[in-house]
Amino acid sequence: MTRTAIVTGAARGIGAATAIRLAADGHAVAVLDLDASSCADTVATIEGAGGRAFAVGADVADAEGVQAAVDLVTARLGAPTILVNNAGIIRDNLLFKMTEDDWDSVLSVHLRGAFLMSRAVQKHQVEAGWGRIVNLSSTSALGNRGQANYSAAKAGMQGLTKTLAFELGRYGVTANAIAPGFIVTDMTRATAERIGVGFDDFVAHAAKEIPVGRAGEPTDIAAAASFFVSEEAGFVSGQVLYVAGGPTS
Ligand code: NAI
Repeated sequence: MTRTAIVTGAARGIGAATAIRLAADGHAVAVLDLDASSCADTVATIEGAGGRAFAVGADVADAEGVQAAVDLVTARLGAPTILVNNAGIIRDNLLFKMTEDDWDSVLSVHLRGAFLMSRAVQKHQVEAGWGRIVNLSSTSALGNRGQANYSAAKAGMQGLTKTLAFELGRYGVTANAIAPGFIVTDMTRATAERIGVGFDDFVAHAAKEIPVGRAGEPTDIAAAASFFVSEEAGFVSGQVLYVAGGPTS
């Protein structure tokens, strides 16, 4: 069945791959990012493959912007019943160097963003008696040096996911989280730059530590999202799936 999906942070990386995958699965996809024009490549890829997509610009941490974006998507593609909360940023620093702005901005985009988007979309899901929410967590939820802000946000995404599962289950809405390990995107490229390592070396080093012997690709995460939003996954809710090429401790 064709549904309307919103994927946040879908201009590039994991969000773009997920938007492309959900469109290939037959859904109409709102490609949401800070700037609508940055979504052009993702939209073109979807439309080039015969899918339906619409670019929408919004800051997920801004309540008014989120509501306006969800209203616009509803008008253009139909009421959204699939939501992938993927938008994210990193502001890594050891605790003693971490600023309040580093803390607030990361918590704001990930957690406040997922809260605002979920609150705006749940209305349509409840009305439809069906819905799927997928939140992007991370292996960093288990703790990671230099990521006090990010690991707190990503652990928070897991708590949010479980509460959404409890509250919305009776309306046919599931909520699940995907916790990726190392995925090759601009985000991991920025980390390599920050620590002064070439990206190829950084990826090769990461791959050595990963049981399946390679780094993850955005399509690895898109495949997991595709499962969680499928019709047949309706009895899977409140779960956290680590997609990391091996077990996590
Ligand atoms: P990325 O940096 O390549 O893409 C993130 C996208 O989010 C960008 O297009 C950016 O413009 C958008 N964005 C940022 N702030 C926004 C806001 N306030 N409103 C709307 N859009 C906003 O990142 P990547 O690697 O694709 O990550 C996607 C998600 O997966 C993030 O939540 C990230 O934390 C998570 N993740 C990534 C991992 C990795 O290894 N790359 C590992 C674990 C989790």
